Amino acid sequence: MDKNFKALIVKETNGKFIREISTKSISDLPEGDVLINVKYSSLNYKDALSATGNKGVTRKYPHTPGIDAAGIVEESSSNLFKKGDEVLVTGYDLGQNTSGGFAEYIRVPAEWVVKLPKGLSLKESMMLGTAGFTAGLSIYKLEQSGIDRAGEVLVTGATGGVGSLALALLSKIGYNVVASTRKKEKEEYLKLLGAKLIINSDELDDKSGKPLLNRKWQGSVDTVGGNVLSTVIRSLDFRCSVASCGNVLSPELNMTLYPFILRGVNLLGINSSETPMDLRKIIWQKLAGEWKLDVLEHITTECSLEELNEKIDLILQGKITGRILINLL
Ligand SMILES: NC(=O)c1ccc[n+]([C@@H]2O[C@H](COP(=O)([O-])OP(=O)(O)OC[C@H]3O[C@@H](n4cnc5c(N)ncnc54)[C@H](OP(=O)(O)O)[C@@H]3O)[C@@H](O)[C@H]2O)c1
Repeated sequence: MDKNFKALIVKETNGKFIREISTKSISDLPEGDVLINVKYSSLNYKDALSATGNKGVTRKYPHTPGIDAAGIVEESSSNLFKKGDEVLVTGYDLGQNTSGGFAEYIRVPAEWVVKLPKGLSLKESMMLGTAGFTAGLSIYKLEQSGIDRAGEVLVTGATGGVGSLALALLSKIGYNVVASTRKKEKEEYLKLLGAKLIINSDELDDKSGKPLLNRKWQGSVDTVGGNVLSTVIRSLDFRCSVASCGNVLSPELNMTLYPFILRGVNLLGINSSETPMDLRKIIWQKLAGEWKLDVLEHITTECSLEELNEKIDLILQGKITGRILINLL
């Protein structure tokens, strides 16, 4: 079958990267077992890197970004899926070097595809998307390493996609969540998601050089990295953990090993895109069931493919609050 469809395409011309909505055809898509008619996608920080020519994310252009997609199977050569199935794909190579979800069609290996869990609509699955999955995976790993529910759990970059969802999920589960943000004016938003306390991210920028700081946190989801992560690790209580999932501030970590060897704290690495399918299904089941959020509408701004362009620049500037859902219906 060949057919034309709409896609956002990033082109490289004389070292500059230009984005446009254009027409592609199914035959342009890579080989794969499952052809999916995409109904919703979402914008993540990594998509903005791909859309602006970051070769660490996307090596070759022209390219269609979009690490998330949810839609309906149109063709499948795998017996795991059939025409009409509602499915979602997040991560793996989607939107990096494989044509991604900012388009009406994707074609991917069957091993990347998750059946939409009962309890979530296609739209809700993309309100969560990679950000929600990453927040869920971070919390799952924190709980496995053990967190004391009586203490305070910190979320950094709290108004961002991963941050907002980590805050809302932790609060739903019953933790006392402290939200760290650079955006003082978003206090009401953060309280609505369940923040018990809101702090300015400057408070997490300790430059004293002390190897250990006062013990404050029972756990943390960090989306920021750099000296914020270093400050968080040095402020964790005995045997507590931080799930490190982002580096919007910096990928550098300058500190001593003392928090690890004197307080027994844990640095949990989070890689959502390569999460094995068994664990992936567990996290999606939780997001659709016991962790199902009723604040998704408050976290999400919906836009069309045409309206996505300006959001890409805003997310790189850290100016997006919550999640951007892309409606391809
Ligand atoms: N490991 C994984 O599997 C995985 C998966 C998804 C995302 N990520 C990573 O997680 C991070 C967040 O992704 P996202 O999609 O949630 O992005 P996002 O929506 O842009 O959120 C990032 C938030 O970080 C804060 N921030 C931005 N720039 C900052 C800076 N220079 N200094 C301090 N804080 C800053 C802002 O929150 P405030 O203004 O509230 O402080 C911003 O909203 C990115 O690094 C992304 O690549 C990793």
